[in-house]
Amino acid sequence: MRLYFVRHGIAEELATSDFDRALTKRGRRRVAASAKVMKRLGIAPRQIFSSPRLRARQTAEIIAEALDMRITLAEPVNFGFDLADLRRLSQSLGADDELMFVGHNPDMSLLASEITGVDAPMKKGGLARIDTVGRSVDEGELVWLIAPKVFDALEDKSRRPAAAGSDRFYTPAQKLPATSQPLNDLIRHRWSPIGFDRERNIDRPTLLSLLEAARWAASSFNLQPWRFIVARRQHPAEFDKLLPVLREGNQTWARHAAVLMIAVTQRHRAPDAINRHATHDLGLAVSQMVLQALDHGLYAHQMAGIYPDKARETYQIPEDFEPFTAIALGYRSAKLDQLEQAQREREAAPRQRLALSEIVFSGSWARPAGFIDEGSA
Ligand SMILES: Cc1cc2nc3c(=O)[nH]c(=O)nc-3n(C[C@H](O)[C@H](O)[C@H](O)COP(=O)(O)O)c2cc1C
Repeated sequence: MRLYFVRHGIAEELATSDFDRALTKRGRRRVAASAKVMKRLGIAPRQIFSSPRLRARQTAEIIAEALDMRITLAEPVNFGFDLADLRRLSQSLGADDELMFVGHNPDMSLLASEITGVDAPMKKGGLARIDTVGRSVDEGELVWLIAPKVFDALEDKSRRPAAAGSDRFYTPAQKLPATSQPLNDLIRHRWSPIGFDRERNIDRPTLLSLLEAARWAASSFNLQPWRFIVARRQHPAEFDKLLPVLREGNQTWARHAAVLMIAVTQRHRAPDAINRHATHDLGLAVSQMVLQALDHGLYAHQMAGIYPDKARETYQIPEDFEPFTAIALGYRSAKLDQLEQAQREREAAPRQRLALSEIVFSGSWARPAGFIDEGSA
């Protein structure tokens, strides 16, 4: 599990009660700058627990807004936050989950030290990352401790144009997979959104890099049985030609994507021999494209819901090539006002998967591989 401890930002000295001490202007500004950096670092906790005291709550809310999340007020994170509280708050979470706690000193620093066995003095507005072993929070490694001054320096740097891949992920916590094992960041953050940013186009080098990623996929006999018909939103004639190839349900949201593609596969490897692996290989190429897209902060949504005959007719696709799927690509937007209520609910729903034991067998069909069980060698 990955734990983030945040100490509240600079607060006013006096208020009607300690509970009501608010962040100062400087405190707010600094926390906002830190929150921006947290987003750029790809920090995506499943939940943000905050002490109910005003200065902590305001700190948590600024961070939550930047990360497109909501906070959970939790009395245990108030004064006296300790290991027993931490265990309780984290008990329902998976080994690969991230959690954030926004609270007070000395509790935050003491608790961080207790878990990691090293000194972890936290400044106001500071952030500690602790990686624990498995699901237990009793022991962990202090991966880093960032003082607010460092955040300031990082924020200055982040004002420069983003280097390719630095501003990558836009994955709300509920879309992160609940995994039994850690995953590569690109795989972890991949999901299929329907809320795309209507304003942001994909520039030419980025688009070319996605297609290049597809080009370099593996394929049976290196036959490369994939072709892509591409339409960019900034070219309305291209875009409006491709859109009706999608089934109406997909058109409703895919019309907001920056790029639409039809993925086409070649059926034969020789005039009299079907390439049985053509669709497998098309899938590999698309998968590479999707992950490369994510490396640029771009999300993809694949669609089987197309009208293949319409695609064939619109683009005069020859007989041996089959329009197979479509792909919508774009930057994600948290503003979902262009979507219907049911679509917004879909966008907010957690993702589901079969268990490993349902898909990985050994010995005979449907016998779950023994090594999947915890405790087996
Ligand atoms: C080949 C393929 C066809 C799909 N067809 C559609 C589709 O027509 N419409 C749609 O909304 N989603 C479609 N999807 C998206 C899936 O519903 C989605 O990948 C799945 O629910 C898993 O969610 P995730 O991608 O967010 O993990 C398709 C995905 C794939 C790979």
